[in-house]
Amino acid sequence: MKDHSVYVALLEKHLSAKRLTHSINVAEQAQLLAKLYGADEEKAYFAGLLHDLCKEMDKDEQLQWIAKSDIILDSILQSQPQVWHGMAAASYLQNELNVTDKAIIDSVRYHTTARAGMTTLEEIIYIADITSKDRDYPDVDEMRRLALTDLSQAMLAGLQYNLTRLVQKGFTISQDTFNAYNYYIMK
Ligand SMILES: [Fe+2]
Ligand SMILES: [Fe+2]
Repeated sequence: MKDHSVYVALLEKHLSAKRLTHSINVAEQAQLLAKLYGADEEKAYFAGLLHDLCKEMDKDEQLQWIAKSDIILDSILQSQPQVWHGMAAASYLQNELNVTDKAIIDSVRYHTTARAGMTTLEEIIYIADITSKDRDYPDVDEMRRLALTDLSQAMLAGLQYNLTRLVQKGFTISQDTFNAYNYYIMK
């Protein structure tokens, strides 16, 4: 593993102690899943570490980062401020940290919405985020078990959980999340 202390220091500036711990846990879980599924462990750790970098930024600042990228927010995404931080962080990585690796950038970008046809690295970051050791929700043990046995099944279960929550709360569902759900159902 490379030395990540520069990035941890950056995270300390942007995040609460609790979310910094979450970020490190996601990085560790992502590395473990990468090892298990034959993905790049270094990329998985790095993307996991930085995935929530913009989560505690003002929404206006998140929008500014998104505006610096090629990401277009349609009206549905505009109605979902809770997902913006993934896209903002993808832009931050590209424009501020000079990350050029598209696989890393996209796995950070899609950790909030998911999408159809995700790469293994994208799936790993999505699943690491909901199975990191700080997570505590009723079905977390089952999600952790699925994460270690079948990444596609874990994606489907994660999407079912998230979509159910969105519907129950009366929130909108982005096109990418909708397409991801259909993709993993049909897979
Ligand atoms: Fe996040
Ligand atoms: Fe997260």
